[in-house]
Amino acid sequence: MALPFTETAMGQASPHPMYATPNHDEGAREDFVREMMIHVTRDLMPGKRTLYENVVKPRFVKQHGRVPQDRHEIRRAMEQEWFNQAWGSLRRLTQEMMYDSIGPSVERQLPDLIARAKRVTAKNGRNHAGSLTLDPALAIPRYHTEVHIHCKPGGYHSEVCADDVLAGAEYDRSYNLFAMGASGPLNDDMGRSVGRFAQRRFPDLRPKRILEMGCTVGHSTLPYCDLYPEADVYAIDVAAPCLRYAHARAEGMGYAVHWSQQNAERTDFPDGHFDLIVSHILFHETSNAALRTIIGECHRLLSPGGVMVHFDAPQYEDMPDPYDHTLGDWSTHYNNEPFWGTLHDQSLPTIMRQAGFAPSAAFNAMAPSVFIEENPGHRAGTRLRQYSVFGATK
Ligand SMILES: C[S@@+](CC[C@H](N)C(=O)[O-])C[C@H]1O[C@@H](n2cnc3c(N)ncnc32)[C@H](O)[C@@H]1O
Repeated sequence: MALPFTETAMGQASPHPMYATPNHDEGAREDFVREMMIHVTRDLMPGKRTLYENVVKPRFVKQHGRVPQDRHEIRRAMEQEWFNQAWGSLRRLTQEMMYDSIGPSVERQLPDLIARAKRVTAKNGRNHAGSLTLDPALAIPRYHTEVHIHCKPGGYHSEVCADDVLAGAEYDRSYNLFAMGASGPLNDDMGRSVGRFAQRRFPDLRPKRILEMGCTVGHSTLPYCDLYPEADVYAIDVAAPCLRYAHARAEGMGYAVHWSQQNAERTDFPDGHFDLIVSHILFHETSNAALRTIIGECHRLLSPGGVMVHFDAPQYEDMPDPYDHTLGDWSTHYNNEPFWGTLHDQSLPTIMRQAGFAPSAAFNAMAPSVFIEENPGHRAGTRLRQYSVFGATK
């Protein structure tokens, strides 16, 4: 669903009935953080490469008689530079300010959001085709309980009250800010782009059932309802407050999805239940062990001829210059995303082969961003132009 594009919080009309719309002052604060984030990542970040190429690399070569070999050597050498330190402080500050500006605004509206969620999901004689199944006994994986992932207080799963939707409502606002508006008002560009990739790459695929793993609030889930209107769409996550919000958001927008609280490492769906399984930025927020288990679970869940498509950041082996590895890897060391770096060291073809997928059925590719194609002049376009996907057919 393409809505008119608005970029600022102050100028943001509620894009759906569950949106925690900021008031004037909250919107102004959020806009300030967005502008600062854009300045830090778009304007200041290129200075780090200039520093590396002109100062740090020549000095390293003089000292060691060779260029730095990997991201670890480059990070250690760059860490001594004041510009790099200042950039890192500003980047971390913008991340914390994002949650500091949005969190209180969502908390202020929490009782109303919970009431809205109940209203919009109440049967009231209406024929809702979607469903929500929570499992209060589900063990939240350690890779979530041990860190406040990317500095999000409490992560995705923590609950502050009964029927809580806080983490979901906050994610909805903060993802838009983090993506600098370049995911569209519904934050759905990942799903639209990866879904379009799947349709183009597998034109004969007619999925009866689709599963999204790690759906959070369903930003990427709903595009699959549009792209494959004949399919039943399922979505799982470990985080109850996000799933409650996802369910209410989808029902409020008229979408029927089956949401359930499950660990993607081992689900309760039968063997061969899905014809298409997708994920969007799930794997860098799990552990390396979980990555293997989840790919194995995909193999179990796919029907013969079924397809899985996963989007996360590109593998380092696809990026020949080790300086490029340091950019995202900043998040490993300074943004509470401990598995970012090591995910990108993994050999995905090997993991897929070990899970049972034939090497000839595996792929990796770039999926162009639908939003950037529709808004070619967007100022975040240099950062989020395409999505790196990998997957396989069974
Ligand atoms: C970055 S968010 C994904 C965003 C979402 N896919 C989208 O496109 O908007 C990562 C999500 O994966 C979920 N997650 C992480 N590990 C999981 C697991 N083992 N099983 C299910 N969900 C998981 C987290 O709770 C979080 O909601």
